[in-house]
Amino acid sequence: MRPEPFVFRDPRTQPLPATEEFRRYLASGWGPVDRRADVVAGAGPAASRHRATIGEQFPGRTIVVPAGRAHVRSNDTEYGFRPDSDFVWLTSCQAEGAVLIMTPAGGGHDATLFIPEPVAPGDEAFYADPLRGELWIGPAAGLVEWTTALEVDVRSLDALGDALDADTLGAGASEPRLMGRVAPSADLLVALSAAKLEKDDWEIAQLRSAVDATVAGFRAVAAEFPAAMDFGGERWLQATFERHARTFGNGVGYSTVVGSGPHAPTLHWTRCDGPVLAGHVVLIDAGVEARSLYTADVTRSLPVDGTFTPVQREVHDLVERAHRAAMAEVGPGKSFLDMRSTAYESIATALRELGILQVSVDEAMSPTGQQHRRYLPSGTGHHLGLDVHDCAKIGDERYLAEPLRPGAVLTVEPGLYFQPNDLTVPPELRGIGIRIEDDLLVTATGHEVLTAALPIDAIGLEAWLQESPA
Ligand code: GLY
Ligand code: MN
Ligand code: MN
Repeated sequence: MRPEPFVFRDPRTQPLPATEEFRRYLASGWGPVDRRADVVAGAGPAASRHRATIGEQFPGRTIVVPAGRAHVRSNDTEYGFRPDSDFVWLTSCQAEGAVLIMTPAGGGHDATLFIPEPVAPGDEAFYADPLRGELWIGPAAGLVEWTTALEVDVRSLDALGDALDADTLGAGASEPRLMGRVAPSADLLVALSAAKLEKDDWEIAQLRSAVDATVAGFRAVAAEFPAAMDFGGERWLQATFERHARTFGNGVGYSTVVGSGPHAPTLHWTRCDGPVLAGHVVLIDAGVEARSLYTADVTRSLPVDGTFTPVQREVHDLVERAHRAAMAEVGPGKSFLDMRSTAYESIATALRELGILQVSVDEAMSPTGQQHRRYLPSGTGHHLGLDVHDCAKIGDERYLAEPLRPGAVLTVEPGLYFQPNDLTVPPELRGIGIRIEDDLLVTATGHEVLTAALPIDAIGLEAWLQESPA
């Protein structure tokens, strides 16, 4: 069943004539437009490999994965559309409303991508639907363009009904045309998450490009410190990064955190409504999502006027020590648990040295202790890919314990967060928040720090700030 096309009627405008003559006038007189699908080189073959990986695990089963739809913001306005990551991983297509169906064939699967056809001249919605009509939103790729770009069989979404069978496994965002016809499959979601545990060369190239754009974004942000101190505050820096991300990638891979001074200890300070003042350390956690939708996830804690105070430096040094120790635990055969335990132990030791932790490190590390978590409530890293928190559906136990293999990409991100009102912390440390977050690729022999262009030590960061053009 095809949903009724939504025809927007803006009460502020004069109604359009509903005459055949008007329809004909709007349908004709248009020259050709560029409908090429905007796809990163190599994306089609990468998606084809990914489909084969999943198909092998579900022989004889039909698999359906929809791209999803934009969320309604209010009335006739929507949030920007971002396709479901599983769908992108399997198709490299970013068309809203599209659906992938993999049907069993010859011991494997045939893939068909069903896409909504462009709402082009000749269709009343072309001029009457502000959300889909091309007169409002511009030309979109059609069946031919997607077929050429992705080298996959592409059909109209209107033909979707014929392709489903009673035994279909479903994943991903809800799609009105699939409602009640496809059972969501936890097995499929787990398999998709697990298949992303190691990235292939094409994906690693995408992640490198996201990281490079992110490092450049940090430079752009640091260059705006004087403006932020003058008038713009945290939001000026947040918007600087987001402008950069939108210009050099698809946008940001998650909500940008800019916490200056007493806001730095708040892990997800995305409100960003505070000032940036002399003497502040500003914690910036930001990632560019590349046009292929792979994202970086990077944090640095930077002194806005170029130099850490002795006490800020002391905390930064302790986090750096934990960060280096944690990174040393990243390699083939090591697990997230190894890395996390090392990071926590180093942080607990630091808290003892600062006179904050009143129990032994051993007690803090015990399951019923965990006192250090008051000052580091988060984990210390995660897989990274199309999702900032990638591979999350494999389950906590497996996520933590499974040995990392070459091709895994993950973050390492210990921190120390001293809230301004935490009375267990010496007054001179209150309001200091430091996180160092790098993106690492597991190699055959150890790891590569993809974000190595950004220093991790206080002195290196001060020198880096000096080089940033103001
Ligand atoms: N920015 C989210 C995270 O670091 O996990
Ligand atoms: Mn992270
Ligand atoms: Mn982060």
